[in-house]
Amino acid sequence: MKFFVDTAEIDQIKELNDLGMVDGVTTNPSLIAKSGRDILEVTKEICDMVSGPVSAEVVALEADDMLAEGRKLAKIADNIAVKVPLTWAGLKTCKTLTDDGIMVNVTLCFSANQALLAAKAGATFISPFIGRLDDLNMDGLELIEDIRTIYDNYGFETNILAASIRSANHMSDCAKIGADVATAPPAVIKAMASHVLTDKGLAAFMADAEKAGIKIV
Ligand code: E4P
Repeated sequence: MKFFVDTAEIDQIKELNDLGMVDGVTTNPSLIAKSGRDILEVTKEICDMVSGPVSAEVVALEADDMLAEGRKLAKIADNIAVKVPLTWAGLKTCKTLTDDGIMVNVTLCFSANQALLAAKAGATFISPFIGRLDDLNMDGLELIEDIRTIYDNYGFETNILAASIRSANHMSDCAKIGADVATAPPAVIKAMASHVLTDKGLAAFMADAEKAGIKIV
């Protein structure tokens, strides 16, 4: 499973990218607003740092306006994936941009039917939001499973990009189901390294090393 990092914070992307943990980046208007940066400038900086797909989201609602924004975003770099919402206008924009050879990430997906439409429109990525479904006591992981089954049944090449990830468990659950990609905030990716028994075992090893006076360099 590929890891995308869900942030527009350059320092956080760099730290994970230097460790080889970043296969791509996703942003959205809320994350860009949080960064306080200009969308075109910060997106260019991310694209220069990361070789994989970098999702940049349109803010228009009508198809013609979305298309103009998508084409402008796509000019930032070859690794831009234009992010469009899962609306009828978004699907139209997806089809046109895909036909132009531009990667498209269809976002705000909350049902298997929406994912089926995005695949028919040629999306490179479909972004089902699992955390926001879980927040409503619905089952986000079940949606990932349903989309996996449907795409496999018919050989759709659209990549399932599990989004709105809230915990390290979400990451392993998505990997077990067979999501192609998971995008997560940097803190969630870092939390994947934590285990209470690792901490406990390390404390015991350090105490014994100190008692025995073990020195290596
Ligand atoms: C993904 O592309 C979205 O930017 C993101 O995962 C949304 O996550 P949230 O529901 O935590 O805002």
